[in-house]
Amino acid sequence: MDLKGVKLTWLGHATFRMETPGGKTVLVDPWVMGNPLCPEKEKNIKKVDVLLCTHGHFDHIGDAVEIAKQHNPTVVGIFELCTWMEKKGAKKTSGMNKGGTQTVGDITVTMVHADHSCGILDGDQIIYGGEACGFVIEFQNGLKIYHAGDTAVFGDMQIIRELYAPDIALLPIGDHYVMSPREAAYACKLLKPKAVVPMHFGTFPVLSGTPAELKQLVKDVEVVEMKPGQTL
Ligand code: NI
Ligand code: MN
Repeated sequence: MDLKGVKLTWLGHATFRMETPGGKTVLVDPWVMGNPLCPEKEKNIKKVDVLLCTHGHFDHIGDAVEIAKQHNPTVVGIFELCTWMEKKGAKKTSGMNKGGTQTVGDITVTMVHADHSCGILDGDQIIYGGEACGFVIEFQNGLKIYHAGDTAVFGDMQIIRELYAPDIALLPIGDHYVMSPREAAYACKLLKPKAVVPMHFGTFPVLSGTPAELKQLVKDVEVVEMKPGQTL
């Protein structure tokens, strides 16, 4: 897998850090403190310029408000989620919606569809959080990474390939709340990335899909199994 100078770190579950060749730090789906897979040394977040949130479930935005207050990144998510984050104290948000693209830091971000729910657990209430989404992130060196968020497989992943042609796909494989390896393998057929990094598995017992199963099912796509805390 050629990252062309982008540093990609998996913090476990759906949380990834991407360090751009230009020196910006992008954090996707920040869930570190309560994340059973996140290594201790990674729980002390040092720098975030851009915070991308795919949807409002706790295992994706668990630490988003805290990190936004501490590091003042530009928070990118769907409009309703960003509005909620602002109410909770995030200073700099740039809410968007599916189909749109914007430049933040030194990356461009396109918000794409995801097939999933999106309620925000706020105290004892579930608040409407807009819709769940995925992101195609393009770096200045041309590398494109698709973070699918939480999703089922859907036919329009083919549109994502035709319009954006991501080099690398970060796909959930854990089953139960998201795709299992079977659906993720089908997603690879639609997306045709050069490499796929499995995520959203093994955190809880119900997230039982494994990278080994995905490897057995896909052809022509490199399955890159990362360990929590590992940087590529
Ligand atoms: Ni979710
Ligand atoms: Mn999730």
